[in-house]
Amino acid sequence: MILVCGGAGYIGSITAHQLQADRFDVVVLDNLQKGHRAAVRDLPFYEGDLHDDALLDRIFTDHPIEAVVHFAANSLVGESVENPLDYYDNNVAATMHLLQAMVRHNVFRIVFSSTAAVYGEPEQIPILEDARHAPESPYGETKLAIERMLFWCDRAYGVRSVCLRYFNAAGALLDGSLGEDHAPESHLIPILLQTALGKRAQVSLFGDDYPTPDGTCIRDYIHVLDLADAHILALRHLLADGESRRYNLGSGTGYSVLELLTLAREITEREIPAEVAPRRAGDPAILVASSDAIHKELGWTPRYALRDILESAWAWHSTHPDGYQ
Ligand code: UFG
Repeated sequence: MILVCGGAGYIGSITAHQLQADRFDVVVLDNLQKGHRAAVRDLPFYEGDLHDDALLDRIFTDHPIEAVVHFAANSLVGESVENPLDYYDNNVAATMHLLQAMVRHNVFRIVFSSTAAVYGEPEQIPILEDARHAPESPYGETKLAIERMLFWCDRAYGVRSVCLRYFNAAGALLDGSLGEDHAPESHLIPILLQTALGKRAQVSLFGDDYPTPDGTCIRDYIHVLDLADAHILALRHLLADGESRRYNLGSGTGYSVLELLTLAREITEREIPAEVAPRRAGDPAILVASSDAIHKELGWTPRYALRDILESAWAWHSTHPDGYQ
């Protein structure tokens, strides 16, 4: 049995369903602060918080949990700069409670959602796992703090972990039945597609004077189903008594904001009005991952291209214009 914390959120819910499709028994825990009950569908579900030690004791007692896949977190860079203490509480402290419960109940395997934000402004592209770690927000800082906590928990208690540093997660289940629903939405692809649907008047392109070929920022978009595959490989690695690891998860190819706008217009066959706006604070010009390490060690290869990402996201947004509501 696998405990999926944060399994009502975007990446967590899709991974939980892929785990189930792969014949894992899954139980989901989510406080529904950001997650959606409907995204859990018929999986066994506990509504509650990682700070709740009694609830964690009940879950670990009631189910033969072999490993935890931990998505539960606050994940907005800008919000984290405004409210750093919320991020230390909901990310670092909450994970500390989870790890304490795991150790109490002799569960020694965890796959953890980390982020490209642990690197901050990169010195080299593509970014390798041992690049300088210099987070530029409390969000990245708290994810890095958790990675370090996991490192010491391995030494002290034998907790084995795989930290997966996502680059730009995007896309939806291919049938469009589970997808991204954030409030407020800050991510580029949902914003492009909500504009295509007429739910927003226009897209603001945050800066066109970056040192990139078209002046807009370049990111490495990775399909959420490829992320789910990586979690399953990481889990199998730990269940086979593999050592702790940290891996980047990206496609290795960067696309600019303008390239996304052009492709979104083509796929949706809608106009998508857009206007250049000032730069958004804290945006690096280029973020592209090297994912060679997880490819070599666990055999992970992304299956989906940017077009698949946008097509599946469009299948989701066009059939769920108000998300899970
Ligand atoms: N962008 C726009 N207009 C918008 C929204 C985004 O131009 O309305 C641009 C951004 O400036 C950026 C690109 O589109 O250049 C992608 O922005 P997102 O907000 O979709 O994603 P980020 O690259 O900012 O964030 C991602 C993850 C975070 C993670 C961060 C690490 O979503 O969880 O990378 O830097 F922290």
